[in-house]
Amino acid sequence: MSDVDIKSVLTENRLFKPSAEFTAKARLKPDDLKALHQQAEEDYEGFWANQARQHIDWHTPFTKTLDDSQAPHFKWFTDGTMNVSYNCIDRHLANKADKTAIIFEGEAGDTRHISYQQLHDDVCQFANALKTKGISKGDRVVIYMPMVPEAVIAMQACARIGAIHSIVFGGFSADSLRDRIDDAQAAMLITADGGTRGGKIVGLKEAADKALSSGCDSINDVIVLKRSGHDINMQDGRDTWWSDAIAGQDKTCEPEWVEAEHPLFLLYTSGSTGKPKGIVHSSAGYLLNAVTSNLWVFDLQDDDIFWCTADVGWITGHTYVAYGPLATGASIVIFEGAPVIPDAGRFWKMVEQHKITVFYTAPTAIRALMKFGDDYPNKYDLSSLRLLGTVGEPINPEAWMWYHTVIGKERCPIVDTWWQTETGANVLTPIPGVTVTKPGSCTFALPGMAVDIVNEEGEFITEANKGGYLVITKPWPSMVRTVWGDDERYIDTYFPKFDGKYYLAGDSARRDEDGYFWIMGRIDDVLNVSGHRLGTMEIESALVAHEAVVEAAVVSRPHEVKGEAIVAFVICKEDRPVGEDAEKMVAELRSWVGEQIGAIAKPDDIRFADGLPKTRSGKIMRRLLRTIAAGEEITSDTSTLENEAVVAQLQGEA
Ligand code: PRX
Repeated sequence: MSDVDIKSVLTENRLFKPSAEFTAKARLKPDDLKALHQQAEEDYEGFWANQARQHIDWHTPFTKTLDDSQAPHFKWFTDGTMNVSYNCIDRHLANKADKTAIIFEGEAGDTRHISYQQLHDDVCQFANALKTKGISKGDRVVIYMPMVPEAVIAMQACARIGAIHSIVFGGFSADSLRDRIDDAQAAMLITADGGTRGGKIVGLKEAADKALSSGCDSINDVIVLKRSGHDINMQDGRDTWWSDAIAGQDKTCEPEWVEAEHPLFLLYTSGSTGKPKGIVHSSAGYLLNAVTSNLWVFDLQDDDIFWCTADVGWITGHTYVAYGPLATGASIVIFEGAPVIPDAGRFWKMVEQHKITVFYTAPTAIRALMKFGDDYPNKYDLSSLRLLGTVGEPINPEAWMWYHTVIGKERCPIVDTWWQTETGANVLTPIPGVTVTKPGSCTFALPGMAVDIVNEEGEFITEANKGGYLVITKPWPSMVRTVWGDDERYIDTYFPKFDGKYYLAGDSARRDEDGYFWIMGRIDDVLNVSGHRLGTMEIESALVAHEAVVEAAVVSRPHEVKGEAIVAFVICKEDRPVGEDAEKMVAELRSWVGEQIGAIAKPDDIRFADGLPKTRSGKIMRRLLRTIAAGEEITSDTSTLENEAVVAQLQGEA
């Protein structure tokens, strides 16, 4: 394994023009993009109304575009009715019934091709099964599944009957699942016996049983897909196998025509408090930006095969797997497995085998695979690729360059897409074939997206390279509608400053002298570990819930593959553990956090001390903790600290 140095270059000004090969086929030409921007600037609402008429099949056409009467709870296309599943499937049946909608590959190499007609039939049968179990419009259904086509079928079936799904990522623990079920008061859970990852079975049903035995009183039914085939417990009267649930069900199911604003799904995401919030997305507005971004950013055309490697447990797996690409009639790839099984060539082998043309993944995956050297990708024919994308965290220019040269062979533009669970779809991103890119910059806002940078007073920052708050100054169709059951929290989180005029993204950013956006990092206590968002408070709450812990503070340190690694400073009730006791306690706490939240939240480092560094007014000095976590020299004066002696302990020197 060659160890590639992936440290970042801070100032990056190399320019990369789209290749002639890409540009020749691209959907959007420079003039098209200019025209879209111009239309949006001249008539913002008219622009989105036109897009909505063009890209969505309406059951009842809308006459009102934007309703801002209850700002910042904005509504779009309110008097229109439509159905998301109809838009993703049925509308393609006239001329694409036999086209492959989903190519699935399991970790063991098993593959399945599902046509649009088959997808329609499967979704309808499952939708009818949901109805038989009493699920109807507005009911919440939690989906806790491996990354298999049935996860998408379940989502689409919910959409078809107007049920609101909430996916809980399969890597989350029983406790996280229970909390999300309880918060949403879900009536049904859809799960599987287990998934496979890294050659091991992930026991989803066991976790589900644990969740259901400790709460979840709202759940009436559990539908269980047989996937791993291992022995599980099925509870009479509550649990039904997927195959039994669909047996004898009709392969047609009239879509429920819902209002544009009807919630399509909830998706829980971390914030700066201990409790994740249920982000609510609408039907029509969400779908609109999902479609436009798949067309503009991923340039999806009829012969494309699009692989977005995200799990459906995250927003990327909603917008760029389960909904957006299908709504454009594309063929998508779904993979259940790890990128290094059986070896680090797995992704590239799949590109060759399925002739993937558009590939979208996270910087952390690129960095992890890059560490294995060029031989793996060089073994495979990657000539089908024409476009590459990244999402979830800043990409360091070295990883960008590797992606560009070794994977994209300098032919494929890279779209570095900045967005969030709350934005629903891409916001800042290059347009492939048009935008000249700079490694590490997500470049410019999409047409119809009003993105800016402001200072503490809410004034626009025009000076080049001066950092500030990233804000979105106008509502957009796929924006978060509210936090499930907590309108106040929606306002407090996203509109806390500037008289509620702008949506506060929670990131800081700067624009360079050419106007390119550069994301600088979060402004709140949210970590980004391997492209996944985790609240420091959430991990701290999990730690202090352990009987041996009195206080904990969580920060991050830079990590060359994961972006950020989690470092926890822990104060125990008894004496500070040292030596073997400390090692034991570290193992205990890591597995405890894994149980409380999920494996992704396990701290990488845990350090013990007699106290946390606090100011005399009692505030934890997080900046100092970050310096200590990164192993950097402390340059600030620590003499004002209430308990200066703990600093040496936290540094591991005492
Ligand atoms: O900090 C930004 C970072 O990820 C956050 C959103 O996380 P989440 O809601 O989990 O959605 C991830 C997938 C869209 C943002 O606030 N982020 C996302 N994309 C980028 C990014 N940071 C830098 N560059 C990006 N391209």
